[in-house]
Amino acid sequence: MLVTNKEVLSAAAAEGYAVGAFNINNMEILQAIVETATEERSPVIISASPSAIKYARLEYITAMVKAAAKITPVPMTLHLDHGKDVETALMCINGGFTSVMIDGSRLEFEENISMTKHVVKLARQKGVSVEAELGKLVSQESTTQGTEDIYTDPDAAVEFVDRTGVDALAVAIGTSHGAYKFKGEPKLDFERLKIIRRKVSIPLVLHGASGVPPWIVEKATKYGAEWRGAKGIPDEHIKQAIPLGIAKINIDTDLRLAFTGAVREVLATSPEVYDPRKILGPAKETMKEVIKAKIRLFGSSGRTP
Ligand code: G3H
Ligand code: 13P
Ligand code: ZN
Repeated sequence: MLVTNKEVLSAAAAEGYAVGAFNINNMEILQAIVETATEERSPVIISASPSAIKYARLEYITAMVKAAAKITPVPMTLHLDHGKDVETALMCINGGFTSVMIDGSRLEFEENISMTKHVVKLARQKGVSVEAELGKLVSQESTTQGTEDIYTDPDAAVEFVDRTGVDALAVAIGTSHGAYKFKGEPKLDFERLKIIRRKVSIPLVLHGASGVPPWIVEKATKYGAEWRGAKGIPDEHIKQAIPLGIAKINIDTDLRLAFTGAVREVLATSPEVYDPRKILGPAKETMKEVIKAKIRLFGSSGRTP
């Protein structure tokens, strides 16, 4: 069943759990997510970034997701991840997505508000929900250190939500995209999140939430991966963030690591294999293990009839 993010996130926020938003690029990733959500009876958000849409084409993404939504009884959504401009958001709104993110976090405050407002207006006409972002996520891959002045300012968040009418807000509290999130100990600004929660009532979103599970890194390293220094968000931090208002949690990197580790293992241990199904099948199974653990960590198991 295809629904909007607004529907799944209001239920999650009301009942105190979070819904996983998992990124897709191909059929096996989508199948891994939908099969696991179905087995766990969990609502789920399928995210596609502009570069995933460019890679797979909008038509394939929407057709595959609609087919999956027919097969599964769990509520699922098709969400644009990090839409950078009105044109991309509009393409997805018209293309059958049920939710879009308009990411103006790189823009000045007023410009971010004006672009977001524009997308909210367009999305409302089609019953599509909208997520926006305030504050910046900075990766250790692109900078030496993330600083707190790029984190979400709670008062600015109040004004932003009031003036734009968005359905969900992505906040910056120290997470970042990719597999290299911290040089030292993982640290998130929970105090800031608490203040934002007190002032803003819509569901909050945590981007860059992958955990970089050590068992996956170890397995992949055994078969040749070089991911020295990879570090993610510990499960304990995720558990702390959910009662503080995080209702949507974005995961992409962990699926990429799981996929790559499993492919490496097959190619290294079965050099005679040349059937893609024998390579991608184990990748799908490993991603399913990761997704199951996330769904349980987020508390969304068993939340659908
Ligand atoms: O926010 C980043 C997501 O992981 C999507 O990444 O733009 O490489 O598809 P991508
Ligand atoms: P990760 O890179 O931590 O998986 O974050 C994904 C994300 O935020 C997608 O929007
Ligand atoms: Zn993100």
